[in-house]
Amino acid sequence: MKTVAVVGTQWGDEGKGKIVDLLAADADIVVRFQGGNNAAHTLVVDGRKFILRLVPAGALHPGKTCVIGNGTVVDPFALVEEIDNLRANGFLSSEDSLKLSYDAHMVMPYHRAIDRGREARLGRNAIGTTGFGIGPAYEDKVARSGLRFADLIDFRSFTARLERNLKEKNAYLKSVLKAKPIRTDELIAQMKTLRKRLLPFLADTAGFLYSAHEAGKRILFEGAHGAMLDIDYGTYPYVTSSNCLASAAFAGAGLPPGKLDAVLGISKAYTTRVGGGPFPTEIKTGVGKRLREEGDEFGSATGRPRRIGWFDAVLARHALRLNGAWGLALTKLDVLTGIDPVKICVAYERAGRRYEQMPPGRVGLDKIRPICEELPGWHQSLQGIRAMADLPAPARRYLERIGELTNVRLAMVGTGAAREAIIMLSNPFQA
Ligand code: GDP
Ligand code: IMO
Ligand code: MG
Repeated sequence: MKTVAVVGTQWGDEGKGKIVDLLAADADIVVRFQGGNNAAHTLVVDGRKFILRLVPAGALHPGKTCVIGNGTVVDPFALVEEIDNLRANGFLSSEDSLKLSYDAHMVMPYHRAIDRGREARLGRNAIGTTGFGIGPAYEDKVARSGLRFADLIDFRSFTARLERNLKEKNAYLKSVLKAKPIRTDELIAQMKTLRKRLLPFLADTAGFLYSAHEAGKRILFEGAHGAMLDIDYGTYPYVTSSNCLASAAFAGAGLPPGKLDAVLGISKAYTTRVGGGPFPTEIKTGVGKRLREEGDEFGSATGRPRRIGWFDAVLARHALRLNGAWGLALTKLDVLTGIDPVKICVAYERAGRRYEQMPPGRVGLDKIRPICEELPGWHQSLQGIRAMADLPAPARRYLERIGELTNVRLAMVGTGAAREAIIMLSNPFQA
């Protein structure tokens, strides 16, 4: 298969970065199509850890083209910092290795200030955003007041629009959010410098991808966040502000419908979530704390401790169906070593009613009781295991049960954070 999308099927942080980095070896182009630097994708290569926020996780493979599509919102300050970090480590050395869509919207410092100001005001009811201004930037895109990278070309008209926006945003920051306004002269000067840095990367990315596809190039789409954070199908309002399903690649990168060959859903062998909102299988006992420590479950974007839960097959079915998943990669199986028994949520129960599927509208998700099956655990370390046959029998049974409950091909199993720590059962580029 030639075009493959990798997407999160839980609440983000499933290990998408590691899988994209792994598959990038077989791809020519790696594309981000939604989200912004609220994403944090971790790659562990040759013992070194990299966290990518905006640049696609193909960046560590020389000779690949990384594309940031029109559906993303990009903080120019964060992007330049990330490019500089990658270059300091010997990556992205040519300007051809990264293409940024003219049509992508910018996240401005006022978006960050509004995001943080609103969260502070919400207090106990806060969404628990990353505070990187993602929601406010998407709001402006839809309100048609956003600034695109294409707008940087004519800097005079860019400045005029920025000043107009700042008047309105600063009034809102001061009078409603009681927050510090953004200095207009300072921001214009900063944008002048950033413009010079970013103009060389601007490209008609949709056109580039179309031609590449026609020429038979292999394209890998890198989803950010996860299905349960999707603005339409997630746990609204405790979601992010973009569509996080594979279908977003069509609008968010300009890929024509029908040109995506396979979707690979990524899930942890258990579940995590950062921020507020319902979490049916959340573990409130010491087992959760242990998994957090063993799995190093602290947000890579914000350092916040991640909430921990059992694998949720109801949620997986919802996410895999919406994504039309060809396969599932299950990461962090190694973290479950020593947990005995392990549990899998097979259905939900509420007010005496059993739900095999997600309740419509996800209504009442905060009040449901997960119906869990217990399976025997295992105690051997999974370090270095690269074949199913070498897994302890209870770990194989655990995977088999997840396969039965989700009814999708198990394509990969993660046994460690490093690039090579994987049991590869089915590589979509070689299928
Ligand atoms: P992403 O946002 O989906 O790319 O995921 P993150 O990078 O935010 O979080 C996943 C974390 O799990 C990172 O620290 C990865 O290095 C780590 N990871 C990925 N796969 C595995 C695995 O199979 N085992 C272990 N132990 N860690 C993994
Ligand atoms: P990756 O791509 C985990 C969560 C935030 C918050 C909610 C809204 O690394 O998997 P936002 O800043 O987007 O407005 O916050 O969404 N969130 C993520 N959680 N991984 C992510 O990305 C996330 N991106 C957003 O924690 O609950
Ligand atoms: Mg992450």
